Amino acid sequence: MSHNILPEPPDELKQLSDSLCSRIREEIRLDGMIPFSRYMEMALYEPGLGYYSAGLHKLGESGDFVTAPELGSLFAGCLARQVAELADTLGPYDILEAGAGTGQLAADLLTELSPDKLPGRYLVLERSADLRQVQRERIATAAPGLVDRVEWLDQPPTTPWQGVLIANEVLDALAVERFRMGTDGVEQLCVTLQDGQFNWASRKAPAQLKLAVEQVAAGIEYGFQPGYRSEINLHTAHWLSAITSQMERGLALFIDYGYPRAEFYLPERSDGTMMCHYRHRAHDDVFFWPGLQDITAWVDFTALAEAADTCALEVEGYTSQTMFLLGCGLDQILDGHSSDSADGGLALSAQARQLTLPGMMGEKFQVMGLGRGLDQPLRGFSLQDLRYRL
Ligand SMILES: C[S@@+](CC[C@H](N)C(=O)[O-])C[C@H]1O[C@@H](n2cnc3c(N)ncnc32)[C@H](O)[C@@H]1O
Repeated sequence: MSHNILPEPPDELKQLSDSLCSRIREEIRLDGMIPFSRYMEMALYEPGLGYYSAGLHKLGESGDFVTAPELGSLFAGCLARQVAELADTLGPYDILEAGAGTGQLAADLLTELSPDKLPGRYLVLERSADLRQVQRERIATAAPGLVDRVEWLDQPPTTPWQGVLIANEVLDALAVERFRMGTDGVEQLCVTLQDGQFNWASRKAPAQLKLAVEQVAAGIEYGFQPGYRSEINLHTAHWLSAITSQMERGLALFIDYGYPRAEFYLPERSDGTMMCHYRHRAHDDVFFWPGLQDITAWVDFTALAEAADTCALEVEGYTSQTMFLLGCGLDQILDGHSSDSADGGLALSAQARQLTLPGMMGEKFQVMGLGRGLDQPLRGFSLQDLRYRL
């Protein structure tokens, strides 16, 4: 992709990216190439330099992309209704939010929940030290009376808890492997140096990647033709197990852009789903100023459901974001604000459109609920059940 359409970063940010690139180059020189997953990991999370680890303004209007919680409080208002329904069943409960971004969802959820439905603790599992600080300030400003309930964790809970786990746009930010179907089998796509610049290279896939790709290929109608390139996350089950192992009872909600496996690996999607975000432009050049842009891959929700199975979690529901939010009561929230000032009403309608229209977030974002010890219908999944597509 041409860089012409992307705005030039300012010099001080280019220097930050240069420092990260030097570190990536050092690793590449050790072995001639590094797996793409390692490149993505460094580009996003290298301490002090990666996209999520350096103090950049990432989310929201002035950043690179806007997530549902950043649009306004409507998304949190809907989630609060699902959480409140669970609170009635669970009794005392906690919320665990993974990857809390700016802290906006935490602040809005705590504010939207009525006092008798508030969680005992709002736990935040965030790997970016920089974002933790942003979250602390945002929650303290927006929900000063409730910030005492928030605790930041360095690792998933190590003692039993019950409640609701929420991960909005977190799975898409986890480092994935890229692979290509070669004429002699599965290849691992790697990053190498060519004239000092990052470039693609490939090698025979290591055993774990080869097996995982072959298993996927065996389960989809068309398999993979030679030349087919895509992504796969080899750590979904491990990650899910780590964050839910101490959840004795409750619901884990994953909201992200993704597909069931058969759609993820459609023959025509022959270059995968990688997407980069820089100043509200989406493009596919993963080597554009490493550390200054977000790099994401869509989520294979079938893989998440399979991981759930290995973690003793039930797939309680799978639906589009639109149907989830409507099931939670988005319409009622809008009706309740119909007499607001013209500005307030218009702003809420604009949020509703962004969250639900098929061409915006409504269809490409999907919601999966994984439960443990639950025996009740969930309002978010009451309108549409897409589990048959997994
Ligand atoms: C795309 S942002 C989404 C932020 C927020 N959930 C939102 O919707 O605005 C991804 C977030 O996940 C965090 N993250 C990435 N990997 C993580 C992990 N393994 N555990 C916890 N947080 C992680 C990032 O630091 C960042 O806060």
